[in-house]
Amino acid sequence: MKKIITVNEKSAIRFISQSEYPAWQEKALRALELLESGKGKGSDFLGWLHLPSETEPAIIKQINDICRDWKDIELVVVIGIGGSYLGAKAVIEALSHSFSALMPSSGPRIVFAGQNIGEDYLAELEDLMATKSVACTVISKSGTTTEPAIAFRLVKQHILSRYGKEEARRRIVAITDKSYGALRQMVNSEGFRSFIIPANVGGRFSVFTPVGLLPIALAGIDIEELMAGTVEMEKITAQKTDSNPAISYAALRNALYSSGKKIELLVNYHPKLHYVTEWWKQLFGESEGKEHKGLFPAGADFTTDLHSMGQYIQDGERHLFETVISVARPNRSLAIPAEEGDADGLNYLAGKSIDHCNKMAELGTCLAHADGGVPNLRIDMPFLNAYNLGALLYFFQKACAISGYILGVNPFDQEGVEAYKKNMFALLDKPGFEVQGALLRERL
Ligand code: PA5
Repeated sequence: MKKIITVNEKSAIRFISQSEYPAWQEKALRALELLESGKGKGSDFLGWLHLPSETEPAIIKQINDICRDWKDIELVVVIGIGGSYLGAKAVIEALSHSFSALMPSSGPRIVFAGQNIGEDYLAELEDLMATKSVACTVISKSGTTTEPAIAFRLVKQHILSRYGKEEARRRIVAITDKSYGALRQMVNSEGFRSFIIPANVGGRFSVFTPVGLLPIALAGIDIEELMAGTVEMEKITAQKTDSNPAISYAALRNALYSSGKKIELLVNYHPKLHYVTEWWKQLFGESEGKEHKGLFPAGADFTTDLHSMGQYIQDGERHLFETVISVARPNRSLAIPAEEGDADGLNYLAGKSIDHCNKMAELGTCLAHADGGVPNLRIDMPFLNAYNLGALLYFFQKACAISGYILGVNPFDQEGVEAYKKNMFALLDKPGFEVQGALLRERL
């Protein structure tokens, strides 16, 4: 079996009691068995587990058909929030040119909406839409989430008024539940094309359904390669051995949590991974932050954030550990040039690759942080491509489910997310929320 994603425990392990660590590995193996048996908490939301091996080729074909059909489109607005946004955003950012917005492009530009309630943002989106040929994919499992619903109303009205009803049916694709929710009703009444989000796949586990795959394919990324990486990782993370990287990661982070570390900082040294961290934060935060338990998932982009957060990490309160995503090699090659006179004193680096400098920063930082009492464990991946990224994201999903079971929570629900929504509806005078609205206003 290929080794795509590996977990390096070396630095973290010395912060964990050696006599106790095998017990954490044992707990992780039992959690994996519980997960695979379908008998654990939230087992009606395990549809993501075998998506890699069970995704029908017909789905990939339908997605690729839409990409072909939208060859004339200049701008695709992808509407969604949380799990209906972050997976696609993470993969597209990780696999696109860093300056894609300013580079020539043969396919449509992808922009996101519905991931905030920014009036300026949406007004500026209207400015942009007025200059381009527009299509839209709206993604919401419940079909009733306020943020994407607001954005969709605006984008839908733009498309309808500009292109008319029939053409709107070509330019709008909805991704939602099979039968319930306002979005499904709109699909039925207005005839938009649609994909189904399987009922047993929760938002943060949905990147390998059309939720993630359609926007990712529209961005020109090979979704078959992405899925091929997940298929391999599904096999690797099903192994009931300590060498399963999902077992190592879940065991290590729980061991560190029980030793008093309360914050896990996901660190990358690759600027394209910023949104992978954002996706990971939702995955672990929403899955584990329950019953007043769970590591707080935070993130940092190094070396950028070493110049802002470095002081705290090195020397602040010792309640955190780092998980470093280490990408072994870059996709491009660029060396530091020599310069006559050496005015900037950089000639000692002349001829060295940029990545060599980055790697020395990474090694030096890991050693310094470990010396400062910050354990760091390392997740190694060979290089950034669709295959390896698919494998990485699936690895995190599997490790997250195992980790949640070790913690004793249901990793697949998110009841805590509803609290703010109820207050927002009450304060917005949504019908049915009048009493709560009056009570809340008394407190303001
Ligand atoms: O993981 C989750 O379930 C959430 O983040 C949802 O994806 C998010 O709230 C959006 O929900 P919906 O897809 O129903 O609009």
